[in-house]
Amino acid sequence: MLDLGLGEGIMRECDRFWPHYSEVIRNRKSCVLDLALDCIENDGTRQVVVLGAGMDALSIELCSRLDCVVFDVDSAGMGRKEQLVGALAQDLRGALRCVTADASRRASVTSGLAGAGWSRDEPSLLVVEGLSYYLTAGDLWGLASGFSTAHRDNRMILEYLLPTCDIPEDLRPVASRRLTS
Ligand SMILES: C[S@@+](CC[C@H](N)C(=O)[O-])C[C@H]1O[C@@H](n2cnc3c(N)ncnc32)[C@H](O)[C@@H]1O
Repeated sequence: MLDLGLGEGIMRECDRFWPHYSEVIRNRKSCVLDLALDCIENDGTRQVVVLGAGMDALSIELCSRLDCVVFDVDSAGMGRKEQLVGALAQDLRGALRCVTADASRRASVTSGLAGAGWSRDEPSLLVVEGLSYYLTAGDLWGLASGFSTAHRDNRMILEYLLPTCDIPEDLRPVASRRLTS
């Protein structure tokens, strides 16, 4: 139901630079999914917040497999995602809630979540994948601390862009290179 055509140029560019790129993304997706499933199944976490969720299907995977409520948060596309999920899987509608909020503004995220039924008093799993590139480190940690509660049962899965100093020198220009096609 999604037109992925806009991504084809960037995919070709990535494959040209590093043929294993799609494998890396597949591994990343499978790793985040496994960690999240484990946290829901074995730690008893029942509410999951996916920040910068976009059209990713992680939330659909989680709430169609296990008993949990997933809140997808993004600054764009959440109305469309809610429509698509409603058309695809009516039974997921209560378990998957789409929230429009700017992740760089902590209050916008927590008030949007509260409006959608998220409870600060229950443990949460926070998933942050593919979002660190858009936020400052201060925004990111401010956001994480917005979920702090008296209990210590919250969990966070964070996939993040390596700081420049941890990237081999010859590869540093790649991250800032403009796409040629
Ligand atoms: C690279 S995509 C990652 C999507 C998904 N998490 C994944 O890993 O497949 C980045 C997402 O972050 C969202 N985003 C970027 N800046 C944001 C912000 N300030 N607040 C909320 N979402 C943001 C974009 O709209 C986009 O959907």
